[in-house]
This record gives sequence, structure tokens and C-alpha cells, in this order.
Amino acid sequence: MTDSRHREWNSAVYHRLSAPQVSWGKKVLSRLRLRGDELVLDAGCGTGRLTADLLESLPRGRVIAVDLSENMLRSASEHLSKYGCQVRLVACDLLHLPFERAFDGIVSTAAFHWVLDHDRLFASLRYALVPGGWLEAQCGGGPNLKRLRERADALAATPPFHQFFAGFQEPWLYQNAADAAESLRREGFVAVETSIEPAMTILDNAEQYNEFVRNIILRRHLENLPSEELRAQFMTALNEQAGSDDPPFSLDYWRLNLRGRVPE
Ligand SMILES: C[S@@+](CC[C@H](N)C(=O)[O-])C[C@H]1O[C@@H](n2cnc3c(N)ncnc32)[C@H](O)[C@@H]1O
Repeated sequence: MTDSRHREWNSAVYHRLSAPQVSWGKKVLSRLRLRGDELVLDAGCGTGRLTADLLESLPRGRVIAVDLSENMLRSASEHLSKYGCQVRLVACDLLHLPFERAFDGIVSTAAFHWVLDHDRLFASLRYALVPGGWLEAQCGGGPNLKRLRERADALAATPPFHQFFAGFQEPWLYQNAADAAESLRREGFVAVETSIEPAMTILDNAEQYNEFVRNIILRRHLENLPSEELRAQFMTALNEQAGSDDPPFSLDYWRLNLRGRVPE
């Protein structure tokens, strides 16, 4: 179970700044071949920007959108209010989905890398699908954000920050395509396809980079620092390095695509 202290996001900031995640997610949704009447799970729905797109493709169907963060679900509830009972929001952990043989399909974008045990995650998803049900997903994978992560690790090992990072472990699992495919097959998925693709993202300026990295990428790192002064100091060092990159304020994102089915 994910530690409850670390569940929360600044959902207003995520909603405003998640253009990169939304553009990747729209590509994932474009791969779906829907009849329009399915019951679909959106696993880790965030503020519901992509859930709305999914609902538009399901005029006679329904979506159950789940997330661990109450803030995210509150924002999603506002964003999705016009869909009425076509959508239901549920607070739960993807590792412990309270559904059995319920869904025709599962969609998930930018969420699975926050779950550190993919065998258990895929077992939980498989259990929630009907026989013949499908999974179409994408999350961070492979060398995702390697440059930024190395810089954050180096800073975290340096005074005055090092005392606050004793025993800290990165909050993500970035699998490669082969390991993810093996994990899906181990948990009973068939017709498995996985791939890694680059998704280099360039932010507009130092302010946007700072807000994005602080609230979206390194929010769990910054939770370790006990004062706003230290958090600002940590971010200033990263911002300076990012400003010297070519192109400046770029993020070396990589996405892991995941597809599979439950046998009939
Ligand atoms: C980066 S956001 C992605 C939101 C949305 N799918 C999108 O693409 O914009 C990741 C979401 O996954 C959720 N999440 C992370 N771990 C989770 C877990 N174990 N169970 C349920 N949701 C989780 C987070 O709370 C967050 O809302």
C-alpha cells in the first residue's frame, strides 16, 4: 500500500501544466478500437483531462476512473461534472482494485511508473477485466528523465541536502520493454506488445520548468526538505543546470507503451 503521506498532488497545478501528459495520452487513446458501449477503467485518472476524451468515445458506455489522490479526484469531479452518471470516480490503490471481472478494457496513462511492483499491479488489473478484456497503457520507462534524475541524486548527496535524503529511494519504477512484457505474461496477459519511445519535452522558460519539476516530477524528493528555503535552493540549482542545456529547459522523457489481453 502506498504511504498515505505521499499520495497527494497539487491537482490545480497538474491540471494547468499537464499538456505533455495530455498529448501523450491522446496518442494512447487514438489506438483504442471502441464500439462505444464498453465499460472502461481509467487507472490513475489524475484530474480527468484524458478521462473526458475517453468518455467522448463511449457515447453508450461508462468509465470508472480511479486514483489514490483525493485532490486529483476532487479536480476530476469538477472537470467531469457534465458527464453525470456516465462516469464514476473511485478512490483506491491500483494494487488493490475492488473490482472482479468487471471491465471490457483498461486505459492508463502516466501512472504505472508510480507503482513499484508491476507484477502485483498487472495481477490486480487482470483480475478486474472480463475474459477477453484488454489493456492499453503508457507510463514512464527505460531511461526516463535520466539526466534530471542524475542531477537530483547528485544534489541530494551534497550538503546541506544530504542529511534529509538518508535512505530515500526514487518513487518510480521505469521498466524496459522486455521486462514489462515478461511481467504482463507472467500475470496471465496474452497478445502482449510493449515498446519504448522518446518523448523529449521542452518547457517555455525557467518559471515553467521550476513549477513543472517541483510539482510533477520531483514532488516526492522535495517533501524530504523541511523548509521552503531549502526547497527553493534545491530547485535553483536544478534550474541553473537546465538553463545551460541545449535546448534549455528540456526534459528527457521516455514512454513505455503496454498492450495485452486476458484470454477468452
Ligand atoms: C502523472 S498523473 C497522470 C494522470 C492522468 N492519467 C494523465 O495522464 O494526466 C499520475 C496519477 O497516478 C496516480 N497514482 C499513482 N499511484 C497510484 C496508485 N497506486 N493507485 C492509484 N492511483 C495512483 C496519482 O495519484 C496521479 O493522479
